[in-house]
Amino acid sequence: MITVNTAATDPSEKSPAALERRVAALLARMTLAEKIGQMSQVHAGEGVAATPLREDIGAGRIGAVLNAVDPHAVNALQRVAVEESRLGIPLLFGRDVIHGFRTVLPIPLGQAATFNPGLVREGARIAAIEAAAAGVNWTFAPMIDIARDPRWGRIAESLGEDPYLASRLGVAMIEGFQGEDLAAPGAIAACAKHFAGYGASESGRDYATTNVPENELRNVYLPPFRAAVDAGVATLMTSFSDLNGVPGTANAFLLRQVLRREWGFRGFVVSDWGSIPQLSVHGLTADDADAACEAVTAGVDMDMAGGAYAAQLARLVEEGRVSLEVIDAAVACILRLKFRLGLFERPYVEPGRPPAVALDERLRIAKQVALESVVLLKNDAGTLPLSRTGIRSIAVIGPLADEPYEQLGTWVFDGDPALSITGLQGLRDLLGTGVEIRYVRALETSRSRSTVGFHEALDAARASDAVILFLGEESILSGEAHSRADISLPGAQAELVRRVREAGKPLVAVILAGRPLVLTDVIDDLDAVLFAWHPGTMGGAALADLLFGAESPSGKLPVTFPRAVGQIPIYYSQKRGGKPPSAESAVLIDDIPVRAPQTSIGNTSYHLDAGYRPLFPFGHGLSYATFDYSNLRLDRPALCIGEVLTVSVDLVNTGCVAADEVAQLYVCDLVGNVTRPVRELKGFRRVRLAPGETVTVSFRLQSEDLAFFGRDNTLIVEPGEFHLWVGGSSEAGLRAAFRLVDADAAGASP
Ligand code: BGC
Repeated sequence: MITVNTAATDPSEKSPAALERRVAALLARMTLAEKIGQMSQVHAGEGVAATPLREDIGAGRIGAVLNAVDPHAVNALQRVAVEESRLGIPLLFGRDVIHGFRTVLPIPLGQAATFNPGLVREGARIAAIEAAAAGVNWTFAPMIDIARDPRWGRIAESLGEDPYLASRLGVAMIEGFQGEDLAAPGAIAACAKHFAGYGASESGRDYATTNVPENELRNVYLPPFRAAVDAGVATLMTSFSDLNGVPGTANAFLLRQVLRREWGFRGFVVSDWGSIPQLSVHGLTADDADAACEAVTAGVDMDMAGGAYAAQLARLVEEGRVSLEVIDAAVACILRLKFRLGLFERPYVEPGRPPAVALDERLRIAKQVALESVVLLKNDAGTLPLSRTGIRSIAVIGPLADEPYEQLGTWVFDGDPALSITGLQGLRDLLGTGVEIRYVRALETSRSRSTVGFHEALDAARASDAVILFLGEESILSGEAHSRADISLPGAQAELVRRVREAGKPLVAVILAGRPLVLTDVIDDLDAVLFAWHPGTMGGAALADLLFGAESPSGKLPVTFPRAVGQIPIYYSQKRGGKPPSAESAVLIDDIPVRAPQTSIGNTSYHLDAGYRPLFPFGHGLSYATFDYSNLRLDRPALCIGEVLTVSVDLVNTGCVAADEVAQLYVCDLVGNVTRPVRELKGFRRVRLAPGETVTVSFRLQSEDLAFFGRDNTLIVEPGEFHLWVGGSSEAGLRAAFRLVDADAAGASP
């Protein structure tokens, strides 16, 4: 082993120039084999103590490991890298820390429903602290793929359908994981994934082809990644999927042109798991050598668990198919991150080094995120909240009432179900002996078809003052490779709703799921519905508080809920089209006159059997309070390019309880160089109001916020007429208008 002096000795050595000097100095000492080693990540698997893994690390053939999460194992491997390899370059330890580590927060889609970047940041910070204590220094999160197809299992991991919301919350997660200084205790590197277009997989089938025209890619799918890069995300991961004929892992347009040249990204790009050799499965390349060549040339700096760089790159360089410059540039980006993480100074997990956060505090944050993520979809005649004094007994029925593991959702490798508070437990804790609880599981799992338990469920419902059904999907039904074609309640759950309805008692459903479900066949039988996603460790405690009114629901849908699968893709920011539908034009199937001539109905864009509206729109979410928006005003009728428009509205809590409301600002660019969406979210604010309280909510709209990619795919700010709306969902009715003007253009006057 040769000792290389790589330590930063004084603070000035942390300057960008000093960092580059350290990277260059180390690079200059590396052999080609050592460089390729840095570009290779392997799965620790069961083999943390295995000789081949240690030998490879000691020989400098590995730069990063994934899925080693025991601090002793991490330190043991790190010791081999630092003390036994020739150059002593420390390893990165990656892990999917997606929505919490031991303490599990709601799934990302649930977190998106909070519309609360500050809280999402705080949740990611807790996850980072817990993960760092286990030796993880790099998480494969956030997933910021725009997801508009609820059949896609990975929608659970996403931040929903909207580029603005996903950008704001993705940045919040990155800030939470990385903190202000990557070298600070408890900070870990983030990874924005999957670059790009993965969410557009055909029919929501995971890994399927995606075809996204460049204009839509730039206006819809890329903005969250741009925001992540601007926020300083350390790494990006490529997508498994094929984008317009070129898989993400070989897509030089994305990786070289957009990411490096246009956005100036300085971090590194990792492939997805095995996605380099998979280029040959796609049929883009013939073998691993071609695949490694395509990937590295396109700009993939590190091979995750594919083995292709390790096996092929040296020969590709010798043959002149891959230049040393390409290799050096990739390795420099990887080393840069290792220096920024402070790994050369502190390679080991030090007990007590990540800031200790008491379990109570972590659980408090997990509960707060869960509280703000639950969406009250429906609440007929004030069924909720239930009254602790007015009710003597409740029936708690359903396969998901008492499932500590299932409520955690997808990607919970390290989550501890023993910490979970289930819905049943939360209700018992809250109600004590004051309200009798009759619990009947009724169905073994969400997918069960046997109705033998329904009798008992109906008896419990009849004997109780109110019924709470815990329905939905187990965690295994969403997540990677877990797509569904039919997204209604699985198994016999709809039948269970109908049977229990016969008791004639107030009927509340709490739905736990990793995606929007089609609830059309049960919604009318339910008096109230709380949509809880997979709410994580503290889900049950939050739900009990919401059911009995200790807190009011305040989540808002980050994704549209369709009426029927056939409406998908359905999202609020659709284009207007040449024949937009309206209530008058959309004649539904049952209303079509007998023997009507073809031309007498419709002529607009809708489905005869589903209409044109979703079951619940983006941004929707009720409260136990009621809110009134009025006096929408703009500080100027026209906005010059480069200026800021201030939009204000008076918001009053006209209800009887204190509650949060998420005020949302939408705009529509009436005429564009390319057609523009009917509405686009441009701002939101979560505010708390006491009963009777009025607040003025203001938004600042900059002219750049109105920019879009035009016909030639360059970003333009185009003068013209705009409408804007402020309200509690994407169907907000309070509207104003303004003009965007180019003050420099001849004749233009604001
Ligand atoms: C997923 C990634 C994940 C990786 C490592 C892949 O299958 O697509 O999102 O980070 O595995 O676990």
